[in-house]
Amino acid sequence: MMKRLVIFLFSVSYAAAVCISAKCETGRYQPNWESLDKRPLPEWYDKAKIGIFLHWGVFSVPSYGSEWFWSNWHGNNSIHVDFMKKNYRPGFTYQEFAPMLTAEFFNPDEWAKLFQRAGAKYVVLTSKHHEGFTMFPSKKSFSWNSVEVGPHRDIVGELGKAVKDHGLVFGVYHSLFEWFNPIYLKDKYELFATRDYPTTKLWPDLKQLINDYEPSVLWSDGDWEALDSYWNSTDFLAWLYNDSPVKDRIVVNDRWGIGIPCHHGDFYNCQDRYNPGKLQNHKWENAFTLDSKSWGWRRDLQLRDLMTLDDLIKEVVSTVSCGGNALINVGPTKEGTIAPIFQERLLSFGKWLRVNGEAIYESSPWQHQNDSRNTNVWYTCRKTSYDGLRPTSKPLKTDKVSATYAIFLKWPANNVLQVKDLTPYLHSGNFAVGMLGKAGETLNWTISNGLTYITLPDKATVRTEHAWALRITLK
Ligand SMILES: *[C@@H]1O[C@H](CO)[C@@H](O)[C@H](O)[C@H]1NC(C)=O
Ligand SMILES: *[C@@H]1O[C@H](CO)[C@@H](O)[C@H](O)[C@H]1NC(C)=O
Ligand SMILES: *[C@@H]1O[C@H](CO)[C@@H](O)[C@H](O)[C@H]1NC(C)=O
Ligand SMILES: *[C@@H]1O[C@H](CO)[C@@H](O)[C@H](O)[C@H]1NC(C)=O
Repeated sequence: MMKRLVIFLFSVSYAAAVCISAKCETGRYQPNWESLDKRPLPEWYDKAKIGIFLHWGVFSVPSYGSEWFWSNWHGNNSIHVDFMKKNYRPGFTYQEFAPMLTAEFFNPDEWAKLFQRAGAKYVVLTSKHHEGFTMFPSKKSFSWNSVEVGPHRDIVGELGKAVKDHGLVFGVYHSLFEWFNPIYLKDKYELFATRDYPTTKLWPDLKQLINDYEPSVLWSDGDWEALDSYWNSTDFLAWLYNDSPVKDRIVVNDRWGIGIPCHHGDFYNCQDRYNPGKLQNHKWENAFTLDSKSWGWRRDLQLRDLMTLDDLIKEVVSTVSCGGNALINVGPTKEGTIAPIFQERLLSFGKWLRVNGEAIYESSPWQHQNDSRNTNVWYTCRKTSYDGLRPTSKPLKTDKVSATYAIFLKWPANNVLQVKDLTPYLHSGNFAVGMLGKAGETLNWTISNGLTYITLPDKATVRTEHAWALRITLK
């Protein structure tokens, strides 16, 4: 381990030294984090705000427990062991699930249409989860891929095409490690002093994924057992940013080795369901799942385990106000369907966005994130010239804010919304306050003792439930 560490430190300083020389001036990214971190975030990603995450693989066949089924079962977790004892013959192997991933109802155009109607701007599919099964014809995953067994279809290719045809951006999730890959396990046994798995499996797979499918998101995972020097992450990313066919639009997350999450990457995921509740100074994404207990489909899903539409809207609004994107996960079934209850949540959310999306898409963080008096109110804003994540300091003058949005999650009983942080803003110019979905109507407000009281329209006349957005613009 010591030896590896020395090599790692050496390679970092070597790369940094190269960067001081003329080579750096050519605009090529160097294989070190200092250089890679300088890459500007491709604008489409910050503007998009809403993505759909899909966990689909062989784990969708037992569809019990979670997508960690294989690992939990082999780790002798009792509910998994009992489930197998009760339902499958002795000696049944995980590999025998693969032919049952039939996907006979998989209609990629229907899926793409659903995600579009849900208001998503990008879609991220598990191209390979920790089980190692690839949803594309990996040249290095013999007989453990979706073309040779199970669906007999190139799932990544088909969904990628449909998603792009519907005007959405396509991305792939990809697990660096594989629980039971013998080559990986050998490297691990050698304390990662050997690097056979990255050279013979990981890199060829990643390059095939990027070159053949040209995704715009590469959502890396399964990094936590080894250092980025083992995965050779910085070399891969330098290739991705300099020479790959998607170099100008690809975005990657932060799961590239021990100590990297929350520190490096185009956007940070930090942990699953990361939602810090305050403004962040680097682009981030909140990846969460509608089924609070699993990312993959579970046949024993209960309604009480599911996020409500209120939960979903709150999660998205609080995320976007703080500069994040929301990546909303559903787990498709082995037959290739998306459960109607997930469809219902997504479509209801899409309906909400059709009225209120103006406060979400292409928005920027405002001066305040949630109101300091009324924590049910979250702010976003729109600038005359889009500058992404940069929060607003002086909204009217230097930042040219064309609209400020106050999204409130609870309708006040007396029909009067009370907030604090809008007060100095409303004092600074001649403003009109309106509600999204009520074109042409302006609302009255009064200011008293530092608080703003906004008289809302009759609730029976508003177009959405669950949350509402006020638009504040100069008259
Ligand atoms: C699980 O139990 C089996 C049978 O008792 C044993 O052979 C195996 O080593 C156990 N696996 C783990 C990871 O503990
Ligand atoms: C990492 O990738 C680069 C670029 O392909 C290669 O030249 C280098 O040898 C790799 N490093 C290791 C330690 O495998
Ligand atoms: C936002 O709301 C949370 C609780 O809902 C509260 O703890 C936090 O202090 C609020 N943040 C701000 C900036 O008011
Ligand atoms: C706003 O206040 C004015 C003057 O009191 C009143 O005439 C008008 O009806 C109010 N508008 C709304 C939408 O409440």
